Amino acid sequence: MPTYTFRLNGRAVSVDAWDPDQPLLYALRGPLGIHGPKLGCGLGQCGACAVLVDNKATPSCLMPVRSAAGRNITTLEGLGTPEKPDPVQAAFIAEQAAQCGYCTNGMIIAAKALLERTPRPTEDQAKQALAGHLCRCGAHTRILRAVMRAAGAR
Ligand code: FES
Ligand code: FES
Repeated sequence: MPTYTFRLNGRAVSVDAWDPDQPLLYALRGPLGIHGPKLGCGLGQCGACAVLVDNKATPSCLMPVRSAAGRNITTLEGLGTPEKPDPVQAAFIAEQAAQCGYCTNGMIIAAKALLERTPRPTEDQAKQALAGHLCRCGAHTRILRAVMRAAGAR
């Protein structure tokens, strides 16, 4: 069975997969025990499964595990801890920017990628960065507030 090696949240990991086209999401949530990224649509349309691939927000449901080989993958778990959350995570907590929380992983990953490339985004830029991330609970206003808080705009 082929083995794929990559960096996951700062450490080298290897995963075996019979099917090289198996979504990275399945490897993360299965053998690698990472549960931040969620399975929503499985079609690249909701953003719940997003991870950072070399700092770019990427839907892990569409990324074949073979494409992860040699890359740096960061998940929600790699950003911070409950004791020491990442500033984006802290802003989401401060703004209570979740209802059911299913979309939260993708929202935080998208915000993190945005702030890496644009540390002081406008609200329009933040909206654009979150555009591919659906929230069925309608928590968008609080989510946007959290992103702007993390950017130091609030
Ligand atoms: S589950 Fe990947 S984008 Fe919806
Ligand atoms: S908080 Fe429920 S989907 Fe966004």
